[in-house]
Amino acid sequence: MNRQLQVCVLGGTGFIGTHLVSRLASAGHTVRVLSRRPYRNRTLAVLPTVRMEQADIHDGEALTRAFRGCDAVVNLVGILNETRGQTFRLVHVELPRKVAQSCRAAGVDRLLHMSALNADAGNAPSRYLRSKGEGEAALRVHAANQVHCTVFQPSTVFGPGDSFLNRFSTLLRLSPGVFPLACPDARFQPVFVGDVAEAFAVALDDRTTFGRRYTLCGPTIYTLREIIEMVAEQTGRRRAIIGLPPTLARLQATLLEFFPGKPFTRDVWRSLQVDSVCSTGPGLSDLGITASALEPSLVGQFEPASAGAAS
Ligand SMILES: NC(=O)c1ccc[n+]([C@@H]2O[C@H](COP(=O)([O-])OP(=O)(O)OC[C@H]3O[C@@H](n4cnc5c(N)ncnc54)[C@H](OP(=O)(O)O)[C@@H]3O)[C@@H](O)[C@H]2O)c1
Repeated sequence: MNRQLQVCVLGGTGFIGTHLVSRLASAGHTVRVLSRRPYRNRTLAVLPTVRMEQADIHDGEALTRAFRGCDAVVNLVGILNETRGQTFRLVHVELPRKVAQSCRAAGVDRLLHMSALNADAGNAPSRYLRSKGEGEAALRVHAANQVHCTVFQPSTVFGPGDSFLNRFSTLLRLSPGVFPLACPDARFQPVFVGDVAEAFAVALDDRTTFGRRYTLCGPTIYTLREIIEMVAEQTGRRRAIIGLPPTLARLQATLLEFFPGKPFTRDVWRSLQVDSVCSTGPGLSDLGITASALEPSLVGQFEPASAGAAS
């Protein structure tokens, strides 16, 4: 029988967070979710052992107060695009530092941290991935020997409510006949959100995961073109997919940065220059988890083709 813990989760209202908090609650843990807008997530608010709290998580003292009495902290906070006041440095580097410092100040000795596959402070091609690498480094320094950290690096995460597959479903709907695709040969090993949540849940109280970093990938490697073809097939939005050469892909990214919600950016384009696949190091199987396939999850994930005006 696993211990029932008091867990504080940052980023618990997001796509992965909602799955993880539900998983932790179902295991009997008590979960405190810190959020800027806690009232927005109705799925979690109804769970009996989950408490939603409004907090400024960038305020170190507020963090320390929130962490008091917790057995473990989970940090899932991350952004794909920078906006005014929300920089990669603030969210991916400064926040992990404050989280580690506040864990120490509040006497919490267990921290699970979400990074990203290919995070590397020195050599990653994009600012997103470099900042994720710097965040891991900040965690190591500030957790020192007092907080047992476990870091997770997933490839792209799929499942109900994901932004990756759903974004392509929307873009396919908006495309008239042809679909111009940047980086069609970029490779991914998409991992199921339920497996990611399970990895955190398993590691939470497992001492063998202390100080380790896990890469999280699904069972199969796909090119981006193959993934779009599967989404097109599933949604009935079949388009001629035209792979763009690098100069046009970069131009497309530059233009789409000005669209609402920034569907594609130059920084994401740079991230796509490295394959998002797992090679070495511990992963899901070391946590006793069998990776779920992408295909079954695609069925029924999207609204029917007839729901989109331009399908
Ligand atoms: N989804 C993927 O495919 C994928 C792949 C690799 C790595 N990751 C990493 O996994 C983590 C979770 O991803 P996700 O897809 O679940 O993200 P998400 O749905 O966008 O959720 C992000 C969460 O972070 C919080 N947040 C965002 N910006 C913030 C800010 N400036 N200050 C404070 N809180 C902020 C939000 O909480 P509130 O709005 O409630 O405050 C939200 O709950 C991120 O670190 C991401 O980089 C995701």
